Amino acid sequence: MSKNSQEGPLQDLDDWEEVLQKRYPPPSREPGPASAFANPGKKKEEFRSYESSARPSVREFYRLNHRYQTLDFVLTKKKEYLPLRKKRMGIWEAMEFLNTLVDDSDPDTNLSQIEHLMQVAEAIRRDGHPRWFILTGLLHDLGKVLCLYGEPQWAVVGDTFPVGCAFSDKIVFAEFFADNSDSRVPAYQTRLGIYAEGCGLDKVHLSWGHDEYLYQVVKDYLPEEALYMLRYHSFYAGHREDAYPYLMNARDRALFVSVRAFNPYDLYTKSAERPNVARLRPFYEELIAEFFPPAIQW
Ligand SMILES: [Fe+2]
Repeated sequence: MSKNSQEGPLQDLDDWEEVLQKRYPPPSREPGPASAFANPGKKKEEFRSYESSARPSVREFYRLNHRYQTLDFVLTKKKEYLPLRKKRMGIWEAMEFLNTLVDDSDPDTNLSQIEHLMQVAEAIRRDGHPRWFILTGLLHDLGKVLCLYGEPQWAVVGDTFPVGCAFSDKIVFAEFFADNSDSRVPAYQTRLGIYAEGCGLDKVHLSWGHDEYLYQVVKDYLPEEALYMLRYHSFYAGHREDAYPYLMNARDRALFVSVRAFNPYDLYTKSAERPNVARLRPFYEELIAEFFPPAIQW
């Protein structure tokens, strides 16, 4: 590997998030959380045109992601990471660790990971939301430290989706699932696959990435709404396309209101304007200490 600490076709990990913004543009002239869900769901044709206009690096990223995220791969990663024996660190320390992620894009124009996280948290704070919600914004992408453990981009970011059951055609670049070896396992290709009708997402294995990892790291410390935001924020087929309703239970449906409330902050609040990290740090250190002990297992 060169100076790049991530393995994969994307020049910058945030390239995936830029393409999400293209796929889900703010619905009104005023990009704002309140109005962002006026038009949930997307027509197949719109998806197709988005897919055909995507950059080659983005296509390649999704090709790898859809090819290699099998049920077996997900179970292997859970076994590897979920004992949480990689590291012991505090939240601020994890933010600084994530900040060491270097990518190939221009450091003068690109914001650091801490700056991105603070932009999201500050937007939530400006809208007068509860403190746990602000903290959730600050934390939401810390699972990307998976890159620093040597995971390839396709196993850290990208839309997440259930494995072990039929792939929905509402997942972007669904045609790439033809190369996923699970496509040739009949038991995984029925509507429910290995799951029971309405079993609830907690029993469903989603493709492996930064959402599930961070959820597992912080699950003892935050309210349930926050945990749903963190665990499912990249599950676009679920929270934006309404795919897989048959795997969800009543609790999922109720808590997806929170996932949808968080999504506009994730998508639309990252800007070129640099937050003043030094000035904001005391506020956030205090907020972190309100919910977390000085160090936790990662
Ligand atoms: Fe994320």
